[in-house]
Amino acid sequence: MQLQITDVAFGGKGVARANGKAVFVPYVIDEETISASITREHKKFLEADLENIVTASPHRIEPRCPYFGRCGGCVYQHIDYEHQLALKWRQVKETLRRIGGLKEPPMRPFIPSPIEYEYRNRITVHVRDGVVGFFRRESNKLLDIERCPIALNEVNAQLVELRESRPRDGHYTLRAGAAQRVFTQANDAVAAAMLDLVDSLLGSATGTLIDAYCGAGFFSKRLRGRFEKVIGIDWDQHAIAVAREDTNENETYIVADVEAELGARLRSIISPSREGQSAVVVDPPATGLGKMILETLIEQQPTQLIYVSCNPATLARDLARLKNSFSIDSITPLDMFPQTAEIECVAHLKMKTVCDDGERTKVR
Ligand SMILES: C[S@@+](CC[C@H](N)C(=O)[O-])C[C@H]1O[C@@H](n2cnc3c(N)ncnc32)[C@H](O)[C@@H]1O
Repeated sequence: MQLQITDVAFGGKGVARANGKAVFVPYVIDEETISASITREHKKFLEADLENIVTASPHRIEPRCPYFGRCGGCVYQHIDYEHQLALKWRQVKETLRRIGGLKEPPMRPFIPSPIEYEYRNRITVHVRDGVVGFFRRESNKLLDIERCPIALNEVNAQLVELRESRPRDGHYTLRAGAAQRVFTQANDAVAAAMLDLVDSLLGSATGTLIDAYCGAGFFSKRLRGRFEKVIGIDWDQHAIAVAREDTNENETYIVADVEAELGARLRSIISPSREGQSAVVVDPPATGLGKMILETLIEQQPTQLIYVSCNPATLARDLARLKNSFSIDSITPLDMFPQTAEIECVAHLKMKTVCDDGERTKVR
């Protein structure tokens, strides 16, 4: 059937309508006219595969990777970079509206990646029955990969070595340089931009900083010079050991579940006798913040909250819960993973206050 693509949804699939239902088609671009064949029929929507492009978008370009379309990693190599950013920006805004109930999300411009390919400082490849590679698109079968063009050359050199070593079945994370064996941000340039952003959003904040889901202290190491006290919490003891390798007197790192630890830590720094500025950075996994953590933040209300998210849908869900107790100052998307569907966001929230005679009164 012939379809008119009207949008590209979060995840990378183009959206059209047919027979009164939404149709999702991968590897197309908004405003393209295509012919497609239906591959699956669901109650509320259809899935289709691209057959032919009838009218191509001016944003369509040649993908650089020979595996594109088969590999489960990249979804946007056929779209020029400017338009990738425009689409992702719209996806974040729409998600915040739809799931977060934010009528006019305070979106800032995208922070792009200065490098569109060869940016990943680590990749995880899988080995099964002699095949070394990534999972195929929407499949648990492996695709044999000789080179990944979004990874740094150094990482690809390690891939060559791994392939030559005839590795056993398993998962192998290949990292550039002497990178630590704990969570690290995957795109160095965008990670640096993210630190600058968080630092500038916090303005002149001092007092105590809680870095929840701190990993090896990515945010706290940058911010420790300006806060009186920095407390990092992560349940990965290896990451905490790395964070503890280089600490100033004002830094404490705790191996704990954020769910169990955040409340007590916040209570101790925001007790009425210790009124002062407090900032919390949360950088949770894609599942977002648990109910208890949201309740703790609403109950204890730090002065500022920075929410670093790798999943706009869970960010939107959590902001829907936080928006009555905090004002949402800004949401900045960052392109940590060009060519892929991934979107990183930094949301800046401030405690809602009624300021009379300089006293801070929490709005509940
Ligand atoms: C997205 S990473 C962020 C790490 C760090 N902020 C950084 O930028 O390098 C998420 C971190 O959360 C930790 N984590 C996940 N769930 C947790 C939990 N319930 N309690 C404590 N740490 C958790 C993981 O160990 C991981 O280090």
